[in-house]
Amino acid sequence: MSKPWKPDSWRAKPIAQVPTYTDTEGLSAVEERLSSYPPLVFAGEARKLKQGLGRVASGEAFLLQGGDCAESFAEHHPDNIRDLFRVFLQMAVIMTFAGGMPVVKVGRIAGQFAKPRSAPMERSGDVELPSYRGDIINGIDFDEASRNPDPARIEMAYRQSAATLNLLRAFAQGGYANLDHVHQWTLGFVSESPQGHRYQEIADRISEAMDFMRACGIDADSVAALRTTDFFTSHEALLLGYEQAMTRVDSTSGNWYATSGHMVWIGDRTRQPDHAHVEYCRGVENPIGLKCGPSLEPDGLLELIDLLNPDNEAGRLTLICRFGADKVEERLPALVRAVEREGRSVVWSCDPMHGNTIKAANGYKTRPFDLILREVENFFAVHRGEGSHPGGIHIEMTGKNVTECTGGARAITEADLKDRYHTHCDPRLNADQSLELAFLIAELLKRDRREQPRQSAVAGL
Ligand code: PEP
Ligand code: CO
Repeated sequence: MSKPWKPDSWRAKPIAQVPTYTDTEGLSAVEERLSSYPPLVFAGEARKLKQGLGRVASGEAFLLQGGDCAESFAEHHPDNIRDLFRVFLQMAVIMTFAGGMPVVKVGRIAGQFAKPRSAPMERSGDVELPSYRGDIINGIDFDEASRNPDPARIEMAYRQSAATLNLLRAFAQGGYANLDHVHQWTLGFVSESPQGHRYQEIADRISEAMDFMRACGIDADSVAALRTTDFFTSHEALLLGYEQAMTRVDSTSGNWYATSGHMVWIGDRTRQPDHAHVEYCRGVENPIGLKCGPSLEPDGLLELIDLLNPDNEAGRLTLICRFGADKVEERLPALVRAVEREGRSVVWSCDPMHGNTIKAANGYKTRPFDLILREVENFFAVHRGEGSHPGGIHIEMTGKNVTECTGGARAITEADLKDRYHTHCDPRLNADQSLELAFLIAELLKRDRREQPRQSAVAGL
């Protein structure tokens, strides 16, 4: 029997990664107002995502989760939303085809504003100021006024999320997701990429499959599923005052839901089982993500699973593993075995970004594409060895051609980083690198798929 829960029961728990607001009255007033504003998402949508993730947990679907490390007020532009959505769809088509299974699409968007930081203060010369914690909390400029947490920013983030979500819904349902267009964009990428010939075969086979369907009378004009899609939103549930204000009872089920996004996750720095972030997340019915870093031991994971998914509901819990390319093979197998032994239903997802961040010689925070790739490959290899399903990936990406991660087919060097380094927090894959990753994952999915029938044939003997 789990302990009683209320949207504010987290307030009685210890909490990490909170900003210190000087304007506490202003903060309460904003939270009060927000709690009467319209929800951003509906409970029924969160349930639909949970169903989709339930299919991922049982090996029948793949999860693609991605977007900015931190959304910003400065980058709030329709073109950025469109470009991210476009790359997302391209990646999803490539993976759907290769894996022969549906791809559940979840953006890190329309609410991904608050950031955990490794240090509460930042020093520059003799000046020390509070660290930047994301646009929902304070400003990135290094001056006292910007770094002071400002409650008005919470309302701005809410309104930006509403506008972003509005455009995403239009794109998803209004014809932009048309499979023919999406594939044409990908063919453009393949013909222009320096490594394009590597992807030509998969691209050609998708073209053939679409020609075949068209010949059978199945095309985007006749079948709605080929011109619309489901796209869900997610963010780290870090700023709990905001989350609490957006927590509502669903009138159809009588249950509590976070209405700030379809899925929320708990960060690697705030997953202490007796702390506030786990307390908040355990009480809402949405799909929940849990970042699993190298310090997480199997017993600790099982304790968190007991708290977050006591009824062992499929699709409720996604374990977002972010160990670093060289630590996956050391850390992941024990976690997989513990979860399998206890018969817990989870989605295994791979975040190949957060364990592979390095500082370039010129001071830029970056991530080498090779390491990202290696973490994904190792993740797939561990699951192949354990007989579990490599359920998805979780990446920081943008649809723009930024220069934030090194490597990839266009071989971005450390010297190139200064050209278009726009992120407000961690370095993101650009559009080309994201598509390249999708093709490489497609190869891994195809290999697993080829091996699958053999495994079941052996099992059937
Ligand atoms: C993030 O996803 O941006 C993040 C901060 O991740 P983690 O909690 O895994 O460090
Ligand atoms: Co990040």
